Amino acid sequence: MQNTAIAIILDEHRSLAAVLHGLRHLVREMREHGRPPDFRLLGAMLYYLDAFSEKLHNPKESLYLFARLKQRCSEADEVVAELEKQHQESSQLGRDLDHALARLEAGVPDGLELFSAAVERLLPEAWQHMATEEKVLLPLARKHLTEGDWAEIAAAFGENGDPRFGAKPDHEFRDLFSRIVNLAPPPIGVGPER
Ligand SMILES: [Fe+2]
Ligand SMILES: [Fe+2]
Repeated sequence: MQNTAIAIILDEHRSLAAVLHGLRHLVREMREHGRPPDFRLLGAMLYYLDAFSEKLHNPKESLYLFARLKQRCSEADEVVAELEKQHQESSQLGRDLDHALARLEAGVPDGLELFSAAVERLLPEAWQHMATEEKVLLPLARKHLTEGDWAEIAAAFGENGDPRFGAKPDHEFRDLFSRIVNLAPPPIGVGPER
C-alpha cells in the first residue's frame, strides 16, 4: 500500500505541475508575444488549482499524511509545521491569482502585469513546497508509517477518496484536466493554435 499511496501523491503533483507550467507559458506568451488572453482556459486552470489543490490535495495531505506522521515521529514536526504553513499561504496566493484574473478580464490597465506577478509569485512557492514533500516528508513517511497508515492514506487518496471531500472527485478532476489539455494550444496541450 505504501507504493500505491506514494504513486498517487506523486501523480497529483505531476498534474498540478503541468497546469502551473502551462499557466506560466500562457502568461509569457501574452506578455512577450501579445497573445490575447484565453479566459476560458485561464479560468479552467485557476479553477483546477483551487478545487484540486486547495480543496482536495492539500487537505488530504494535512488530514492523513501529515497528521499520521506527526503521531509516529517527532523528527517530522518541523517539516510538517513548515508545510502546513505553506498550505495556508498557498490559499492566499490562489485568492490573489483569482483576483488578478478578474482584474485582467475587467480590462484594468495593469491587469496583465498584476496577473503575471501573481503567477510568478505562486510558482516558486509551489515548486519548493512539492520538492520538500517529495524529498523530505515522504522519505520520513516511508521510514516511520505503518502498513495500516499507508492503507488509510491510499484509501483517502484513491479512486473513491474520502466522502467528506465529495463523491468521486477523482473522475471529475481527471475530466477537468483533460479539458484543460484540450483547450490549451501546443506546446501545453492539444487545443487549437491561436
Ligand atoms: Fe502539500
Ligand atoms: Fe502535495
